[in-house]
Amino acid sequence: MIVSAVKSSIGKISTDLLTAFIFQDERLFKQKSDDLISLFGAPLQSALSSKDFSGKEGETLHLYTGNKRSPRLFVVGLGESKKFTIEKLRRAAATAAKKGNSLKVTSVGIEIPDTEVVLPESIEDVALAMSEASLLSLYKYDKYISKAKDGKKLSRIEFITASKYTSEIQQGVRQGQTIAEATIHARDLSNAPGSEIYPETLANDAKQLGRKMGFSVTVFDKKKILSLRMGGLIGVSKGSDKDPRFIIMEYGKQYKKRGTIILVGKGVTFDTGGISIKPSAGMAEMKMDMAGGAAVIGTFHALPELKLKRHVIGLIPSVENMPSGSAVKPGDIIRHYNGKTSEVDNTDAEGRLILADALSYASTYKPSVVIDLATLTGACVVALGHYASGMMGNDQEVMDALETAGEKTYDRVWQLPMFDEYEKLIKSDIADVKNVGGRWAGAITAGWFLKKFIGDYKWVHLDIAGTAIQEANQDYIPRGGSGAGVRLLIEFLRNWK
Ligand code: BES
Ligand code: ZN
Ligand code: ZN
Repeated sequence: MIVSAVKSSIGKISTDLLTAFIFQDERLFKQKSDDLISLFGAPLQSALSSKDFSGKEGETLHLYTGNKRSPRLFVVGLGESKKFTIEKLRRAAATAAKKGNSLKVTSVGIEIPDTEVVLPESIEDVALAMSEASLLSLYKYDKYISKAKDGKKLSRIEFITASKYTSEIQQGVRQGQTIAEATIHARDLSNAPGSEIYPETLANDAKQLGRKMGFSVTVFDKKKILSLRMGGLIGVSKGSDKDPRFIIMEYGKQYKKRGTIILVGKGVTFDTGGISIKPSAGMAEMKMDMAGGAAVIGTFHALPELKLKRHVIGLIPSVENMPSGSAVKPGDIIRHYNGKTSEVDNTDAEGRLILADALSYASTYKPSVVIDLATLTGACVVALGHYASGMMGNDQEVMDALETAGEKTYDRVWQLPMFDEYEKLIKSDIADVKNVGGRWAGAITAGWFLKKFIGDYKWVHLDIAGTAIQEANQDYIPRGGSGAGVRLLIEFLRNWK
C-alpha cells in the first residue's frame, strides 16, 4: 500500500474515491455541504437536501459526481463536534479505507479535516491517527486462503490537505504507516497457526526483523536455557517436541545513559493447558498465546524507523505447552532463574512460570523500567472483556504514563489493585510460591505471582488476554489477533521521561 499526504484542495484532486467528512452540528453541516455542493454540484445538492443524511457519527453517503477527476464521492458523518474525539476520527478514516477496498478501486483520497478547534491533538497526531487506522482497517489474515486474488485492488491512499501544515501532516502520515505496519506484524504472528509459529520460528522471525531493521537479536537455545537454570522454560516445554527459546532483542544501546527499558512478552506458541488440559472448545485460540511476545516484536519493528532515542531491550521466553509422558505435572516443583521455587498446582498456569525466569533475568540489565505483556488469565477477560488490558505494578508513575498512552492510542489499560491480601492466596506449603491462587481474582493472583520474581526496578504487568485476542470485527480491529500493546508501548516509549 502506498500512503502519502498531498497538498491540494479536495476539488482539484484526482482519485477513484474521494472521502470528505462532515459534522452534524447545524452550522458546520451547512458550511461543509455548501462547500461540497459548490465543488460537486447537482448530485450532492439533492442528496444533502433530502435529509437522508445528516452527518451523524458513522452515517455515510456514497454518490457519483459526474466529475472525471473524482468520479466517486464518499461523505462520512462525524457526529456532534462537541463530542468529537480522535478515536472517532480513526473510525471515520477506517470507514473510508474500507469503502475503497470494498468498491475495489485503486486509489482513495481522504481529506484531513480541519480539527484545530474541535480536537486537542496536534495536526501531526491527527494525520498519524488517520493513517494508522486506515491501514489497520484493511488488515486481513489471508496467507492461507488459496482462491485467486482478483487483480484490481486498493493500492494507494492519499491524505489530502489544503492547510499550510503539509510537512507535519506528511510526517504524521509516515509515522502512522510505520506504527500500522508494526501492529500488523504482531497480528500476523498471533494469527499464524501453531504449526508455523513455535519457539524456534518465533525466534527466527525476531532475528530476521533485527537484520532488516538494524537491531541486535540473541537467541538462547535449550542447552543455554538449561545452563542458565531457567526452570520455568524447561519445565513448561518438557511435554512438547518443540524446544524452548529465550529471545533477546536490543535497540538503541547508545542511549543507555537515559536508562534501559525492558519489554517482556509471553511467548507460549500454543497453550493446550498441558496435563491440566483445556476443554477443546475454543482451544484453537491458544495459538495466540504468544501475543505478548508478538507485541514486543511488533514494537521493535517500529523503533528503528521512528528513530526512537531510547535503550530498549525485548525479552521473550517462548515455549509450547503440551501434555505428554514427559510433561510437567501438577505437584511438581520448579526452580527458576533467580533460585526461587514454585509449586505447579495447575500446568495451565504456564505463562507466569516462564515469565518468572524472564523477569528475574531482566535484573541482569539493571533496567529502570520493565513492562511485561501476557495473555495471562481468562479471569482478566471476565473482568474487563475485550476493551482494556489489565494493569498491575509497583510504580504509579509508570502506570499513569501507560494509562495516558492508552487513552491517546485507544489501546487502553485499566489498573487492578495489588492489595497484600491477594498475596496469601498463592502461598505454597512445599515451595516458595504456588502457581495458582484459587477461584477468585485470578488476574490479580497471577500478577502477584510475577511480582515475586521482579528485581529492583519499576515494573508494570499488562494482562492482554482480552485485548490481544478479539472476538468480533471492529472499525480497524479485526477478529483474532489485534496487535494490542504495540501502539500502547510505542506511545509510552516516545513520551517516557
Ligand atoms: N493462556 C491462558 C489465558 C488465556 C485465557 C488467554 C483465555 C487468552 C484467553 C493461560 O495460560 C491460562 O490458561 N490461564 C489459566 C490460569 C488458571 C489455571 C489459574 C486461566 O486463566 O484459566
Ligand atoms: Zn495456560
Ligand atoms: Zn497461556
